[in-house]
Amino acid sequence: MDTRAGSLPRVPAARLPVPEAGADLVERWLSDRGALVDLLSQVRGRFGGVAAFRLEDARTVLVTDPQAVQHILARHPERYVQGEQRARLLVGDSVLAATGEAWKRQRRLLQPQFTATGTRRYEQRITAAVRTVAERWRAYARTGQTLDVEKEMRRFAIDVIWRALTGHPLDEATERVLSTVPAVTAVLPTLPADVTEVPDAVAADLARIDAVARSAIDAARAEPAGPDGPGLVHALIGAAAERPEYTDQLIRDELITLLVAGHATTATTVTWLYLLLDRHPAAREQALAAGGEGTPHRRRAVQALIHETLRLYPAAWILPRRAAQDDTLAGHAIEAGTDLLICPYLTHRDPELWPDPERFDPGRFTTAAGRPTHPAAYFPFGMGPRTCLGMQFALREMTILLEHLLPAHTVAFHSTPTKAAFGITVRPDGPTLATLNPPRS
Ligand code: HEM
Repeated sequence: MDTRAGSLPRVPAARLPVPEAGADLVERWLSDRGALVDLLSQVRGRFGGVAAFRLEDARTVLVTDPQAVQHILARHPERYVQGEQRARLLVGDSVLAATGEAWKRQRRLLQPQFTATGTRRYEQRITAAVRTVAERWRAYARTGQTLDVEKEMRRFAIDVIWRALTGHPLDEATERVLSTVPAVTAVLPTLPADVTEVPDAVAADLARIDAVARSAIDAARAEPAGPDGPGLVHALIGAAAERPEYTDQLIRDELITLLVAGHATTATTVTWLYLLLDRHPAAREQALAAGGEGTPHRRRAVQALIHETLRLYPAAWILPRRAAQDDTLAGHAIEAGTDLLICPYLTHRDPELWPDPERFDPGRFTTAAGRPTHPAAYFPFGMGPRTCLGMQFALREMTILLEHLLPAHTVAFHSTPTKAAFGITVRPDGPTLATLNPPRS
């Protein structure tokens, strides 16, 4: 650096400081609009795809530029770590929270269960859970009874993951306990970042969730396979026989993680999909016209609906990271210890990547020309080594569900929440009560 008196310090062109929104601007934006996502959107709009802001003294770098996203998640994941102490209260040392060698070992054990081939093993269980919800929906349609779409989807998603984990359908008592998971996860982001003890407000719920996990482990030990064959929990118990690190506590942590990570995400995605179809009924008809039941054409059209929903509402809308070392990110200097927020929600709505980004257009995913070529222009499941473990599972379960439900009913919402609530996942900001109509086509 040139330090001669009178000259300006020269910053090497390749390591410019990250542009930063002034505190006055941040304050004004927050008082004008309120929500964090609006602030993030303003910061991105004004300062670009790698930009900083300060909230109550904590400096955070927002990352939406696809090159920078790819750099952090896929090219140099060792330079940026996940350090979420809060999540540990619920998921302990599971694959979601572990780092380094422990994470590698845990991920290696679970990965084969979740590849496209591994997931096929769970197809029958997914179909059984789909039949249960389809039957329930037929009864709702017959009687004209009101249903809550988000709640229905959550029930379905918990049933699916429970069947995959244990080999058994979900029973009512377990369902009651697991229905408190959203209340627990909603509290987590409100806690201090370095929290180490469970707050009273959720302690009782967490203890009940714990007890459910432990009795599922005991049951799996007593009965080597459920009626639908072994579950994932059997694979974990099997690993424990050879690897001392798979204590009952770690098996519990993995089980809870798969339950938590594996249901709210898929449930909100399908709920958003139905809300989007409510505003764009032609998209449903086009998907159903794409080919007959069970044809690859129909399947691709249904998957395009799912992907376009995940573009607009990526359930995991924000991915926090901390720089483990000094780095250069898209030409900007990042110091070790810097907190970063990667925001797929904003990348997916960048008009330079996605023309007319607010428009719901599943056609973007039916032809290669419909979407940008950069791999990090669309990453609802993350990317790189920490890509969502359950991606194939989630896509399969949502596809099978919609292949059954879409032709059978149209959903008439009593009112449609148009705004989103940004918590751990991005959810509709209002009730999703509806009645089911017989199909229009
Ligand atoms: C629409 C559905 C889903 C979405 C949008 C989604 C999204 C994501 C994203 C973005 C990540 C990466 C987080 C990061 O890099 O910080 C992730 C990680 C993870 N997901 Fe999912 N997910 C979905 C469904 C599922 C399902 C069904 C399961 C389990 C059956 C699951 C299990 C996991 C696990 C265990 C991780 C942590 C992986 C690791 O750190 O190695 N997810 N998910």
